[in-house]
Amino acid sequence: MKESTSQNLNEPDTELDASLRPVSFDDFIGQGKSKEQLQLFTKAAKDRGDVLEHVLLSSPPGLGKTTLAYILANAMGVNVKATSGPIVDKPADLAGLLTNLERGDILFIDEIHRMQRTVEEYLYSAMEDYVIDIMIDQGPSARSVRLDLPHFTLIGATTRSGLLSAPLRSRFGLTNRLDYYDAESLKHIVKRSAGILDIDIDDDGALEIAGRSRGTPRIANNLLRRVRDYAQVKADNRILKDVADRALTMLDIDQYGLDEMDKRILDTIMQKFSGGPVGLNSLSVSVGEEADTLESVYEPYLIQEGYLKRTAKGRVITELYRTRLGLPPSSAQPELL
Ligand SMILES: Nc1ncnc2c1ncn2[C@@H]1O[C@H](COP(=O)(O)OP(=O)(O)OP(=O)(O)O)[C@@H](O)[C@H]1O
Ligand SMILES: [Mg+2]
Repeated sequence: MKESTSQNLNEPDTELDASLRPVSFDDFIGQGKSKEQLQLFTKAAKDRGDVLEHVLLSSPPGLGKTTLAYILANAMGVNVKATSGPIVDKPADLAGLLTNLERGDILFIDEIHRMQRTVEEYLYSAMEDYVIDIMIDQGPSARSVRLDLPHFTLIGATTRSGLLSAPLRSRFGLTNRLDYYDAESLKHIVKRSAGILDIDIDDDGALEIAGRSRGTPRIANNLLRRVRDYAQVKADNRILKDVADRALTMLDIDQYGLDEMDKRILDTIMQKFSGGPVGLNSLSVSVGEEADTLESVYEPYLIQEGYLKRTAKGRVITELYRTRLGLPPSSAQPELL
């Protein structure tokens, strides 16, 4: 598959992510409702001297799940042990992590939907009753031993909440879904990052980057760095609106923040399926991406921005997208909902 610049802009960059990651609720911009809820529950638990409930965070990539997990730990004043679903591939690995926690500590499991079912089943009793039964020895002397665990908090993060099993999902006390950021919030994020990285940018420059970041803070931060490079060479180190615009245009960043896959999805529906409706599976085969990824990673943004509609008969391109392409409205297309 062709490598795309825009795709890469949402690849986690460990160093950059860490240096720009907000550490407290106060620095965490946007996500009003989710933030308010989490802030309230952490305060309540902390004031009572309780352990925070298990939290499930879901969102497309780069919207702040890992960031929030660490903010919750800071707010509770506890340690975090971080791991990820595919890494914990044996029950013994999980037992090792759990038995090393102290009361109140957070176990952060990223990509929790990718955990093996056999390991996942051990989490059920750990989350519910704070015990884990492990097998000792093999063959005839094999026996199961029950270990008591400290009261801990599991924070699970997932980009595909639909893939989580019902038993696992039901064991989370708090479930939070993060949404794409609006341009105004992203503008604040860009300005905050510029402050940390010592980059000279004005409000309109920040807004220009914000509007082309696909609603995603990680992309906004990555674009900021690239625009900074451009400004350094071509614009006296100062990011103004037209500087940002020229830099992003040079980088082929869509004016509306769409990335290569977004465009491929929309163009495929337009060209191969005459604007739709097309079923998810046919679309998946045509664009060469898993149906589930389309549904949980790409479509939410396209739907939110009003380019795509899900109807009973399948996915349909909206008039808004036709207009953006400069096409006349389709009178042939009946309203399907
Ligand atoms: N609300 C926010 N305010 C300011 N910066 C943010 C916010 N949310 C995310 N960021 C920035 O975006 C970067 C990416 O966020 P984070 O790593 O938490 O995303 P994620 O949801 O865990 O992504 P992934 O699904 O790829 O693991 C962070 O390093 C941080 O700099
Ligand atoms: Mg993450």
